[in-house]
Amino acid sequence: MRLVLLGAPGSGKGTQAKILQSLLGWVQISTGDLLRAAVKAETPLGVKAKAAMDAGELVSDEIVLGLMEEKIGETKGGFILDGFPRNIAQAEALEKMLEAIDKPLDEAVLMDVDFDVLLKRLTGRRSCKDCGSLYNIYFSPTEKEDVCDNCGGELMHRKDDNEETIGNRLNVYRDQTSPLIDFYKERNKLTKVDAVGELEDVTKRMMEALRVSDLDD
Ligand code: AP5
Repeated sequence: MRLVLLGAPGSGKGTQAKILQSLLGWVQISTGDLLRAAVKAETPLGVKAKAAMDAGELVSDEIVLGLMEEKIGETKGGFILDGFPRNIAQAEALEKMLEAIDKPLDEAVLMDVDFDVLLKRLTGRRSCKDCGSLYNIYFSPTEKEDVCDNCGGELMHRKDDNEETIGNRLNVYRDQTSPLIDFYKERNKLTKVDAVGELEDVTKRMMEALRVSDLDD
């Protein structure tokens, strides 16, 4: 299946994309992760993207579309787009990209979470520097403080997860990304899922909404 995960910052796109990838084998393609890796490696693309990311603004469409074209082109089988598209121009470009390779999008899943929950999820998020596992100091803490349960790596707090930048990211979501809800509704591809509750329950709701079991591909 070819899927877009839509949702505000902190709605759980990355968390659920990783779970669906491990259950169903669909490849998670996260523009945020790709951009953070480029910033860390100080590639020319990363250098260009850094200021916008630190401020909670969108990175230019030109950078993101180049990145996605390459990634989608090399992906075999199903995929889950996490954090892309982020505005109407990106959604239209994606539609053309997928049309050209005759692999249209199947669904866009809107992950629905209230604002006050989002804030706690984002300020409490920690991720492993080594394996990328996600935790939350309020909802899913590690057994040992600041140490990854999965690989023993050190945990980090994302630079854009401070209250000021979070506020800007939520404004950007409201102004530029939320119009995609109607974009996919008009194409009959939108499925809304309640994304609050235990991780397994959210995954279950998503799989029911997508009409898949973990044996499907
Ligand atoms: P990106 O990395 O995409 O950030 P985001 O959209 O702001 O989303 P997040 O990663 O913050 O949240 P998420 O929904 O994945 O939640 P998560 O699963 O981590 O983008 C970062 C920046 O890159 C952007 O600001 C922009 O500058 C740039 N960028 C990226 N894509 C771009 C594009 N297409 N165009 C232009 N610029 C782009 O969960 C959050 C926390 O909640 C975690 O701690 C997790 O453990 C916890 N949690 C998850 N689910 C639950 C649950 N059910 N119950 C309790 N806790 C939960």
